[in-house]
Formats: sequence, C-alpha cells, structure tokens
Amino acid sequence: MKGVVLAGGKGSRLFPLTRVTNKHLLPVYDRPMIFYPIQTLVDAGIKDIIVVTGGQNSGDFLRLLSNGKDFDLHRIHYTYQEGEGGIADALRLAEPFVEGEKICVVLGDNLIENNIIEAKRAFEKQPKGAHILLKEVPDPERFGCPEISNGRILGIEEKSKSPKSKYAVTGIYFYDQSVFEKIGKTKPSWRNELEITDVNNMYLREGTLTYIDLEGWWTDAGTFDSLLRATNMVAESGANKIPGRGAPPRHGRDGE
Ligand code: G1P
Repeated sequence: MKGVVLAGGKGSRLFPLTRVTNKHLLPVYDRPMIFYPIQTLVDAGIKDIIVVTGGQNSGDFLRLLSNGKDFDLHRIHYTYQEGEGGIADALRLAEPFVEGEKICVVLGDNLIENNIIEAKRAFEKQPKGAHILLKEVPDPERFGCPEISNGRILGIEEKSKSPKSKYAVTGIYFYDQSVFEKIGKTKPSWRNELEITDVNNMYLREGTLTYIDLEGWWTDAGTFDSLLRATNMVAESGANKIPGRGAPPRHGRDGE
C-alpha cells in the first residue's frame, strides 16, 4: 500500500499566518504540521509516500523533509498542484506514483492521538472499494458528515447546514485504484473544488464503501480554533501513539 499526504491549498482560513508560508509547515506544538500525517502513514507500515503540495512555498517541503530521515525513510516523493482545485484534484496528481496499488490518503492538517493500523488491516482484507474513518465531533457542519442508519452509511454531505449525524468523515481515506476514474467524474462544487465527499459517495453508491470509528482524539488544524486545539492535544497527551511504544520521539530536543 502506498501513502499520499495532501498538503496544498491556500490555507485561507488561517490568513495572515499563511500569507508567506504553507499551512502544513506551521508548528503544532513541537513539530511542523506535516510531520503528523507522515508519521501516521509510517506507523501503519506505509513507507512509500508522496507529498502533494503547491503554491509559493513548495520548495520548503523539500528543505524540511528531505528524504524523510526524521521518519527513518530513505526517500519521499513530491508532486506539485497548480492552483487550488480541492482535495480530489490534488489526489489525482498522485496517480502515476500509485501504479495501481491501494492507497492511504491523509490530509496534511489531520492529526490523530493513536494510529490507523487496524483500519489498514481491515482495508487490506477488503477486495475493492474504499474505507473511511469516522469520528464523533461537536461541530459536524464543518466537515463531511455521514447519515447513518442501522450501522450503514446512507450518504455523506459536505459542510451541511443541518448535519444528519454527529460524525465527521476524517481526512484519512483508504482507496483502491478506481479512485482516479471516480475523481475524473466529479464536478467542481459551490466552493469551486473537486470534493473528496463526491468521490466517497460514488463508492457508497457502488456498495464498496466501508467505515470504522477512529479511536482516540482526532482533529484537523486548518482554522485558528482547530490549530490551537491540535497544539493543546499534542502538548497534553501526545500524538501518533502505538501500543507498547507510546508516542514517537520528540524532535530537536538533543541534549535535554
Ligand atoms: C476536508 C473534507 C471534509 C473532511 C475534512 C477533514 O474539509 O472536504 O469532508 O471532513 O477535510 O479534515 P476541508 O478541510 O477542505 O474543509
């Protein structure tokens, strides 16, 4: 399985913090934001990773991450998104890298307390389709929100004014290779983006979308409030914990 980290976009909800840098390079407690989604993939044993970025600061990703030595990787791949076409538009740039394998996609501003090892195992056993991770949140209107009945997802709405459940679709997605064909069928939404929710709904209609509830805290970090929450969560309880191993080592604390 290959990994895709999506780290493009203007980060306009964080202006002026993002006027001269990319959102995913901003600090979350003691690490740049993008370290967390990369760690999420690496912890799940996914070490063939591409970072999709864009904008004026894309070179900074290479300077920051180089070949992934902070994660014991030998190599990280990079690709560049022209403009801000949304998550699905960014994901399609990863197609040549994926080469028909299954993928795990993590949004560059999504942080988790624990790990996605179980979800990855479940998806490996799934012959085809997609697997998404849900989390109960106080503000589902900010996210993709599923309608669930008898344990089955009936539909997912993006930024619904009247959410049909208390759940958010987190920015961690497992897909088979048909994701790229599905992205090709999406149309720009009201926010002029190709929505990943439209892609997930295509899998749903096909009957191949499965889900699990993510354990431990989850947050995005794309607004002032969620960035603060992410920082506090990491400071208080650590991120990317693995049973028996705890949280990954802190960076930049040599000599303490
Ligand atoms: C995106 C997705 C949304 C998902 C969220 C998770 O929202 O469109 O479905 O719930 O990420 O972080 P955005 O950050 O683009 O508003």
